[in-house]
Amino acid sequence: MNKTKIAPSILSCNFLTLEKEIKAVEKAGADLIHIDVMDGHFVPNITIGPLFVEHIRRITSKPLDVHLMIENPAMFVEDFIKAGADIVTVHVETDNHILKTIDVIKSSGKKAGITLNPATPLNSIEYAIKEADLLLIMTVNPGFGGQSYIPAMNEKIRKAKRMIEETGRHVDLQVDGGIKASNAKKVVDAGADILVMGTEIFHSKDYIKKIKEIRNILGE
Ligand code: DX5
Ligand code: ZN
Repeated sequence: MNKTKIAPSILSCNFLTLEKEIKAVEKAGADLIHIDVMDGHFVPNITIGPLFVEHIRRITSKPLDVHLMIENPAMFVEDFIKAGADIVTVHVETDNHILKTIDVIKSSGKKAGITLNPATPLNSIEYAIKEADLLLIMTVNPGFGGQSYIPAMNEKIRKAKRMIEETGRHVDLQVDGGIKASNAKKVVDAGADILVMGTEIFHSKDYIKKIKEIRNILGE
């Protein structure tokens, strides 16, 4: 079995010492760097844009996992790819032509992720899943770090895993929101391959210890 990937979300880190924070999670064994892009329309919060991603690209060789919580994402995917994103994930709720967006991302040699809000049913990705490289199950309503995991998402993760298996393709299953050492095993047992973690990692005192603790819990 493949090792679970851990993707610290920089939303919860100290932006004033961002380089130090990213190098520290890298050293602690992070597999990806998760970057949350919010526009104040699709979600009630505003964060960062392509320019910021470009700067992060210069300080890490880890894959940059860019989660777009913005309206009209198709208008911006190429900018984020140019800035150095390795994975670009788009919400189905805000893209009327998601197969086209997936194609644009994949044609640039990058990984195309699709995602849905907690209340959006999985049947909305019945066709997109046949083309995507990654499926992100949001386990909180997007917009903020530090929220609690929504328990009904256990079943959604399991169903998503089955849906992926039915495609016969390799699609990474990622979870994001309220993921902690205490529920990591549960979501991995349900089928998650990539754990996004914001507060659990960046609000801990020792990133090395925290990631070790998570790996121990997972038996990896
Ligand atoms: C929420 C973001 C998450 C967030 C997760 O809208 O997509 O990536 O940073 O933070 P935690 O792990 O604190 O729930
Ligand atoms: Zn995210």
